Amino acid sequence: MTEEFIQVADITDIELNQSLTVNVDDIDILICHTSEGVFAVEDKCSHADIPLCGGQIIDNYITCPVHGAVFDLSDGSVQSPPAFEDLRTFELLLEDTSISVKKPFSE
Ligand code: FES
Repeated sequence: MTEEFIQVADITDIELNQSLTVNVDDIDILICHTSEGVFAVEDKCSHADIPLCGGQIIDNYITCPVHGAVFDLSDGSVQSPPAFEDLRTFELLLEDTSISVKKPFSE
């Protein structure tokens, strides 16, 4: 385990096309298990600062459960309004079934 990474979840706890919110350093991070891989974005829609948790995941895209904005989970980019700003993304380290997020989070 690299010291820069903090273990946050296990892939066996997140079904395919589902997500899990973890809190690290007071940031809610959405861990998404997709058919294209595992991705981490801030669990806060850039449209109205509402959690994305529960949004439908298809391939590497998530649809906000509130107003339907679509984001590419692989890079956080917004794909569809009403959101216009990208999501913050976090680098992951996958070891066997263990999922870790890279620190630090300050930019
Ligand atoms: S809060 Fe996500 S699209 Fe409005």
